[in-house]
Amino acid sequence: MTALSVSTSSAVSLRADALVIGVAKGPKGLVVASGAEAVVEAFEGKLAEVLTTLGASGAEGEAVKLPAPAGAKAPLVLAVGLGEAVDGPYGAEELRKAAGVAARTLAGSKKVVLALPAGSADEAEAVALGGLLGSYVFGAYKGEAGKAPVAELVVAVERKGSKEAKAAVERAAAIGEEMNRARDLVNTAPNDLNPKSFAAIAQAAGKEHGLKVEVLDEKALAKGGFGGILGVGVGSANPPRLVKVAYTHPKAKASLAFVGKGITYDSGGISLKPAGHNETMKCDMAGAAAVFAAVVAAKRLGLQVNVTAWMALAENMPSGSATRPGDVLRMYGGKTVEVLNTDAEGRLVLADAIVKAGEEKPDVIVDVATLTGAMVLALGNRTFGVMANDDALRTRLHETAGAVGEQSWPMPLPADLRKGMVESTVADMANMGERMGGGLVAGLFLQEFVAEGTAWAHIDIAGPAFNEGGASGYTPKGGTASAVRTLVRFAEDTAAGK
Ligand code: BES
Ligand code: ZN
Ligand code: ZN
Repeated sequence: MTALSVSTSSAVSLRADALVIGVAKGPKGLVVASGAEAVVEAFEGKLAEVLTTLGASGAEGEAVKLPAPAGAKAPLVLAVGLGEAVDGPYGAEELRKAAGVAARTLAGSKKVVLALPAGSADEAEAVALGGLLGSYVFGAYKGEAGKAPVAELVVAVERKGSKEAKAAVERAAAIGEEMNRARDLVNTAPNDLNPKSFAAIAQAAGKEHGLKVEVLDEKALAKGGFGGILGVGVGSANPPRLVKVAYTHPKAKASLAFVGKGITYDSGGISLKPAGHNETMKCDMAGAAAVFAAVVAAKRLGLQVNVTAWMALAENMPSGSATRPGDVLRMYGGKTVEVLNTDAEGRLVLADAIVKAGEEKPDVIVDVATLTGAMVLALGNRTFGVMANDDALRTRLHETAGAVGEQSWPMPLPADLRKGMVESTVADMANMGERMGGGLVAGLFLQEFVAEGTAWAHIDIAGPAFNEGGASGYTPKGGTASAVRTLVRFAEDTAAGK
């Protein structure tokens, strides 16, 4: 794992493999951003000119290497683009992206100094988080061919306000490390991550961080009547689990329940997915990984709010014991559901977990799930959809996401779509409704399991949870840890009474 630290020394005086500076597109050409003053000085005012000669423009995503000037303790300077030059401070997202590009470009280095704009604690936090997220490498299965992540990132900050900057960088470490852990979980091959091993990882993390972890195994689930989770998991040799990870603060005035879809592999079950639709379905537990990361981060940050993560874990497989299209499941809480399509399994495991979470009467329930292909069709690969039974909550989550640099969009739960979904000839409802608006139908299904009077929101991360395209900014290929920052900021705001 990449270590993060802070230094108030002049960047050129730090012994490292590389010095990272920020450059931007000014009205009259390339400009060097703040934080790099000592480097500019060492180049005797020629830095912008040299970089322009090398083809640098300051565009976002750009990374240009050049030998360090005489006197610098690092051999290499890496200039990363911040986009358009601004008069005031750069935006947090621009800083995160630039630091991310730098850390990714310099993978394999031992020590990297980030001499990017970090005049305020917010800027230092953005640089640190972007750097940590950008340094992420999933190397579990790679031999020699794999690159090691940057071993140590040093955020160069000004002496004035360095105490605040140090605290901000520690905050970034808590969030970034838990996000990288969530990415590891998503990227782990499904023959290695199953409900049982995922639950064991949660238990170990609970021990490490002092969180209460409870695991319901298949026997306890049967005894408790969790027909949704059991019905999805019954076709697999790897039995399901419901995991509760609780963080409580003695002075908490509010409690949040985060519920995550944790399908460690979604083959579709008897309604088997065709080839081309199942290669990435190890990512179907990204919601559970997100709520897990969020609760651990809440604890590490010591937020004054109670946060409980519920991870509904199952493997959706076809077999002689699998649930058939046509089967009726008795869900936790007593509702019956006719399973018309075994590939609409996420809503079944979530329904049980939402009812269970609701019994504790949290102030808000937020579920996070790679729930529908329809949401990917609607919003693309980088934006998650937010639905809720409360307009203010939906708006708040959308705005929270925007504030932390996650793309989201509020989606409706239209009453007219509900009818087709709740109609089943034999049961209280079916797990499928109209094909059109499938993402909303799934949301409406979940809403049926929310206790009267409980504020609930549903985040469908099917698009952004797993990056099948190339790496960019601080986003790697594979697992992204989508929604984690939104959940953590939501908890922070709740703790602050917002
Ligand atoms: N896990 C999938 C949704 C998904 C699709 C996640 C693409 C990530 C990327 C989910 O379980 C599923 O298969 N949903 C079906 C529901 C349908 C059968 C009603 C879908 O979206 O096609
Ligand atoms: Zn499915
Ligand atoms: Zn699924």
